[in-house]
Amino acid sequence: MGKILLKGGQVVSSSGVFEADVLIEGGKILRVCDWGEESEAGEVFDCSGKLIFPGLIDAHVHLREPGQSYKEDWETGSSAAVAGGITTVLDMPNNDPPVVSIEDLEKKRKLIEGCSYCNYGLYIGFNGKNLEEINSSDAVAVKFFGCDSTGDMGVNDISAVKELFGKSNKLIVVHAEDAGCIEKNFKNCVEDLSQGEKITVAIHSEIRSPECAIIAVQRFCEMAERLGARLHVAHVSTEGELEVLNKFQKITCEVSPHHLVLCEDDYGTLGNFLKVNPPVRSREDIFALWKGLKFGEIDIIATDHAPHTVEEKERDYLKAPSGVPELDTLGPLLFNSINDEGLTEAEVVKLCCEKPAEIFGLKGKGRIEFGFDADIVVVDMDLERKVEKDKLFTKCGWSPYEGMSLKGWPVMTFVGGELVFKDGEIVGDKVGKECL
Ligand code: DOR
Ligand code: ZN
Repeated sequence: MGKILLKGGQVVSSSGVFEADVLIEGGKILRVCDWGEESEAGEVFDCSGKLIFPGLIDAHVHLREPGQSYKEDWETGSSAAVAGGITTVLDMPNNDPPVVSIEDLEKKRKLIEGCSYCNYGLYIGFNGKNLEEINSSDAVAVKFFGCDSTGDMGVNDISAVKELFGKSNKLIVVHAEDAGCIEKNFKNCVEDLSQGEKITVAIHSEIRSPECAIIAVQRFCEMAERLGARLHVAHVSTEGELEVLNKFQKITCEVSPHHLVLCEDDYGTLGNFLKVNPPVRSREDIFALWKGLKFGEIDIIATDHAPHTVEEKERDYLKAPSGVPELDTLGPLLFNSINDEGLTEAEVVKLCCEKPAEIFGLKGKGRIEFGFDADIVVVDMDLERKVEKDKLFTKCGWSPYEGMSLKGWPVMTFVGGELVFKDGEIVGDKVGKECL
């Protein structure tokens, strides 16, 4: 493989934006230098007028293999990722069957190998009795569902949970919603319905109320502190959770795009297509989450990409599965927010590249610096277009952001120095590798 030069662009790091050329060799970044300093390269890509970001790292996706490839498979899911500017995804274990043993991990690994455009890491799930498997596995982290969600992997056995928190040698990523609180709210909501009235998604946010998330976060943070666990709280969605998390400096957390962009008022137009756990919240919560990003209370942005088919989402509220697809749109939403002065370029690199690499121990990822992997996304900050379902790569074929006009789109995505996505199309090979 010869040398590749990304020429005439502006490179983004967590300290800002600067003019630089980027020289790549053997899948790694060989040099970041002043414009024009390097001229020898087999292939030159003109990046003038464009921003050059480290590829985004999405620490929370559900790509549905094994078992549910009718919703998404690695080819479609990883295509959506690279189209959305993402070069590494960390995939959740709530598959069918769930990934809870070393053998399950190996099977999944074999299934995926050679099928991914982006790099990836694999989670192992906690099922209440597999601590030894977790500790001897090479999973990127362990996922613990504090209640049932899609996949019914909730673990309520408190002594088993304590054992996990006391003895896990892996980072624990928790889905924190309290099962008892959800059950109580559900009963109340059903009782409040007048005769013959049908239960609809409009009350999803009341059933899985802010309180359910806040008490679960409080409980698991206290437990982690007491038992010495390394804890990361997935998809924080409320102001109250941030207030709790502020008291636990060592515990990290993430926020998902839908909780930053959409709210309860959107059930009217999106219906079950906005059914997601934890649910979307109020405008006040959205404001608090943006503030949390700006003030460093939230460590990373991760999508929780959770595709389900249109047919599944069109079922009655109680039968429709929870989750929204997000990979295709992560980059455009972030770059649009830079144009809107919500986030800065440097904040995007911190939240979506450097910090996820640090928290999940992804060596050689998250920066455009000498020796780092050449996982790179080139962005046209002036390109403006609507989110259209025909242009999505996710197999489920819909997006909660359909029709939204966004300014700032990826135009080239490199994975390990290979161009895999260009101007709306997949152009490369499935070069994604597992991060081990
Ligand atoms: O809404 C959700 N969907 N929340 C989860 O916890 C799981 C996810 C899925 O896998 O569909
Ligand atoms: Zn999830």
